[in-house]
Amino acid sequence: MQATVQPFFDPVTWTWTYVVHAGSGTACAIVDPVLDYDPKSGRTRTDSAQQVVDYVRAQSLSVKWILETHAHADHLSAAIWLRDQLGGRIGIGNRIPGVQGVFKQIFHLEPEFATDGSQFDHLFADDEAFAIGDLQARVLSVPGHTPACVAYQVGDAVFVGDTLFPPDVGTARCDFPGGSAQTLYRSVRKLLALPGATRLFVCHDYPPTDRAPRCETSVAEQRAHNIHIHEGITEDAFVAMRTKRDAGLQMPTLILPAIQVNIRAGHMPPPEANGVSYLKIPINAL
Ligand SMILES: [Fe+2]
Repeated sequence: MQATVQPFFDPVTWTWTYVVHAGSGTACAIVDPVLDYDPKSGRTRTDSAQQVVDYVRAQSLSVKWILETHAHADHLSAAIWLRDQLGGRIGIGNRIPGVQGVFKQIFHLEPEFATDGSQFDHLFADDEAFAIGDLQARVLSVPGHTPACVAYQVGDAVFVGDTLFPPDVGTARCDFPGGSAQTLYRSVRKLLALPGATRLFVCHDYPPTDRAPRCETSVAEQRAHNIHIHEGITEDAFVAMRTKRDAGLQMPTLILPAIQVNIRAGHMPPPEANGVSYLKIPINAL
């Protein structure tokens, strides 16, 4: 069955959110939803997520899943807010406990913070099959950008998370804790072994000024044209390029707030005695 994919672009964090379904009145999944966050004021807004709610309601869709490809470092997740509005179960890859453990230490989180992934409704194993109504879906483990990254295949559409970007932008960075350029190379080769016509939907685009952001590419296009990892690029060459490039990248603007919220599936930290939630800034720790 052909999946219908509705993209939503957040120009603040360059993130693509998706709703995937089989037509009006059917079941759907939401992939990588964005919670708007202003780092200057510490205020959240739900303008981006509301667009998803409006679409789901206009199409009379029933939300079965809210899928995270990984614990994002560039935007906060709206998964919890959307679950409250629309229902559904929040899923992420089953290696997320490792990521939670690393960042529990970095942020010196409260002792009660569980590092077993229990903040999420479901932890997906590699190759796990699941259903979105009549749409058949499966999970592809694609570590490298983070050790817990997964992609979601729904029919002929694959939501690749932070692995591949559009061909002229290349690939995701691999310098976060637990990241590995060598591992990302192998994950991308796994994606590019899918049939050439497979539609790939990226989590981000950082377009040059002469084109609009795009969300969809294909296995064949990536094999032929991805500037970092097209067919013929060896693992050693990719790792050398990626390592050099990552050494010159700044941290994402929202990495500190984003990680603290996203390893909690989109929950804010527990409020303090005055009822306010606080995010931490570790000094010289990241
Ligand atoms: Fe990411």
